[in-house]
This record gives sequence, structure tokens and C-alpha cells, in this order.
Amino acid sequence: MSINGFSKLSKEEKIEWLATQHFSNPEDGIATLKKYWNSDLQLQNLHDEFIENTISNYYLPIGIAPNFLINGKTYTIPMAIEESSVVAAASKAAKFWAKRGGFTAQVIDTEKIGQVHFNFYGAFNKLELLFDTYKSRFFEDTLHITQNMQKRSGGIIDIQLLNQSHKLPNYYQLHATFNTVDSMGANFINTCLEQFAKTLVALAEQETSFTEEEKNIQIIMSILSNYVPNCLVRAKVSCPVEDLADKKISNPQEYAEKFVNAVKIAEVETYRAVTHNKGIMNGVDAVVIATGNDFRAIEAGAHAYAAKNGMYSSLSHASVENGIFTFWMDIPLALGTVGGLTSLHPMVKIALEILGKPNAKELMEIIAVAGLAQNFAALNSLTTTGIQQGHMKMHLMNILNQFEATETEKKKAIKHFETETVTHAGVVRFLENLRK
Ligand code: HMG
Repeated sequence: MSINGFSKLSKEEKIEWLATQHFSNPEDGIATLKKYWNSDLQLQNLHDEFIENTISNYYLPIGIAPNFLINGKTYTIPMAIEESSVVAAASKAAKFWAKRGGFTAQVIDTEKIGQVHFNFYGAFNKLELLFDTYKSRFFEDTLHITQNMQKRSGGIIDIQLLNQSHKLPNYYQLHATFNTVDSMGANFINTCLEQFAKTLVALAEQETSFTEEEKNIQIIMSILSNYVPNCLVRAKVSCPVEDLADKKISNPQEYAEKFVNAVKIAEVETYRAVTHNKGIMNGVDAVVIATGNDFRAIEAGAHAYAAKNGMYSSLSHASVENGIFTFWMDIPLALGTVGGLTSLHPMVKIALEILGKPNAKELMEIIAVAGLAQNFAALNSLTTTGIQQGHMKMHLMNILNQFEATETEKKKAIKHFETETVTHAGVVRFLENLRK
């Protein structure tokens, strides 16, 4: 059912409309939506105003993965995620590597990118001459936007004019690079780009050597790119192969070789690479969301980077050389620890506090490590016990809740499945027997 002017309705009216149009049981539907409202009105208003047409809240649990030793410092990592076993897996990997020197992480660069896409109908060499002659104007005209960023040692790094007409007739670009310091910088970049576009149009209009056609530059759009291959961080773990020995790793050499093999398969096989990288993003997204960053931007950028050589491939790599096991990953992460939700969402503030109020570079390191840890835990399970044993052990509570198990039933089930493999059918059978 379509509706005109939905945005103008009050929250109550929006819910009323939904209930009459979409709920099989309007009373129950309304009750569920309202059960998720926060009783603190100020907090609820804050959430209502994050987005448009808000009707209720959608909760994600925040879990804690402790014991992450990164560059010699111990971190406790908050993770916002709905999937069982991710937090346990991260915690397990953190504990494992803390005993073996921990993770190292290093920011390689923090360059962000934005582009003005435009059409120009004329000789490129004339446009190039205009750009080279007046390049400083782009910096001058954006000074009112960049001044504060410059005080923090950031700002516009460079602007280039690119001829893209071999890809699309008459298509050219201003390709700009930025340093946005501790902010993700989307608004800053887009505001600069829109000014670049105005400056470009004005310069062309005033250029006496241009024909009428050349003066008429057509701006298509001005927007940042979420592909940031030079906003890159490397996370790594390494230890002598024999040090991999553990309760469940009796033959470390065989373990290491199988692990490296599993990573190599993800490097050469796209179907596997996608799932492999999904495992990495389990860790990355959970911390990105907990710290109020834009996980869609991170996802898009990471997957584009995984395909940078023309084939979608593994983000992580592993080797055994001279008796040393090394597992590492380079991942582009454009993150902010100021601006956006970071100063607005109370849970984001708490998450950043748990992490010790990191700056953007430190957060890049933490999040890359969370991704690598997650990948390590998944590969560790996949190449030894198989994924289902641990994953289903953690998923047990969800199955029990699905069948509305009582607290007593849950206790009995947990005890029973300590020694039995958890399967959906097995849990159902167990509950049925219990309830007979
Ligand atoms: P386990 O060996 O049975 O655990 O592993 P444990 O009981 O021996 O405990 C060891 C440590 O694990 C604990 O230390 C915790 O750190 C952690 P402790 O706290 O006792 O000092 N741990 C827990 N933390 C919190 N709550 C818990 C808990 N249990 C253990 N309940 C575990 C069990 C699930 C950790 C293991 O089997 C595992 O790491 N599995 C991998 C799970 C995984 O990767 N899940 C992601 C979802 S699957 C997926 O989407 C991705 C995938 O497709 C990617 C790919 O294909 O590459 C797999």
C-alpha cells in the first residue's frame, strides 16, 4: 500500500498506519515496537533523530573480547554483532596469540580520496593548461573549509586532473587526496569537492582562450570514494612453528602447513575467498559498528581491495619460512574517532572508552587485528575440528530460545551438550524428550 506524506506523520501516526496496513495482529505489532522504545525520553529522541521515519529501535548485542595484545599493549575489544560464536572466536584467538607475543599492527598510510566527475567538450591540452595554471585556486577557494583540518595537520594533499575520455566520451575528473586525521572525513571531503566543482566551472567560464563549448563544463557529480587503497593497515602474527603447539595442536608442523594451504586456497579460488573474507569482516564489522563507524563504506572498500589485481582473492596471507609461521593481512580502513556518531551515541562513547580512547590510526590497527583474529579462529576450526562443533556449541542458546526453553530446560541442555555435538535436530529431540 503506498502513501503520500508519510514523513509528515507523527511517530504514533506512522505506527498506526503500519499497524493497519502491514500487521496481521496490529495490537501485538504495536506492542512489540513500543517494547523496544527506551524509557529515557531524551535517549529515545536521540535515536529517533539519527535517521528518518523512526518507529522503534533495533538492538544488537555488544560483546567483549578481552586479552588482545597489540603492539605490546593489552586491549579489551567491544563487538556489536548478532552472530553467535564470533566474540568467542575472537577471544580465543586473542588468548592464543597473547601467549605467543601478540599481534603487531602498523598503519601504512591514511590517504582518503574524492572525485569531481565532469564532462568537457574540447581539447584536453587546453583544459590541462588551465588546470596547471590555476591549480592553487582550488586550494585557496577551499581555505575556509580546510583551515581547521590544517590546524590538526590534515587537509587536501593533492588534486589531479585526469583524462578519462578513453573510458567514456568527454569524461574527465578532478581526483583529490585528503588527510582527514581522526575523522572519517566524508562531509569534509564532499564539501571540498563541491567547492572544487564551482571553482572549475568559474575558471572555464572566464577563460578567454576557450571556445563557447569548452567554457561550458558539465559537472556530473562530486563525491568521495570509498575505495581507499592508500588508507591501509597491516595486522600480523608470527611465531616459530613449534610454538603453535597447544592443547588441541599436537603436531604444529602439520597444523601450520594445513593452515597455510587453507589460506592459499582462498588466494586462488574466488568462491572460497568470499567466505574467507566474510570471516574477516565478522571481526572487522563488529568493532566498526561498536565504534560508530560506517560498516557499508568499510565493506565496500575492503572487497574492492580484495579484487585489486583483477580477481577477487583473500585479504589475508600465510607462510611458513625457515621454521617461522606468519599470518598477516593488509586491509583499507577509513575510520573516524571524532565526528559522526562518535560523540552522539552513548554506546559508541563507551566502546571507545573501553578501547582507551584511540585515535583513528590506533583504531585502524585494533580493527585490522580483530579481523585477522577472527580469520585465524575460523581457519583454526575449519582445518581441525570443522566449523560446526564450536559454532553450534555457541549457537545452542539461540536454538533453545527459538523453542522457548525454560531456565531449567536450558541448564539441562547445556549439561547434556557438553559431551554431545550440537545440531538443530538434536536439540529439538532433546527438548521433546524432556517435555514428554
Ligand atoms: P573451544 O576451544 O571449545 O573453547 O572453542 P574453550 O571452551 O576451550 O575456551 C577457550 C577460549 O575461547 C575461552 O577462554 C574464550 O576466550 C573463548 P576463557 O574465557 O575460558 O579463558 N570462548 C568463549 N568466549 C566467550 N563465550 C564463550 C566462549 N567459549 C570459548 N561461550 C570456539 C570454541 C567457538 C571459540 C571455537 O570453536 C572457534 O573459534 N570457532 C570458530 C567460530 C567462528 O569462526 N565463528 C564465526 C561464525 S562462522 C562464519 O561466519 C565464518 C566462516 O565461514 C569463515 C570461513 O569460512 O573462513 C567460518
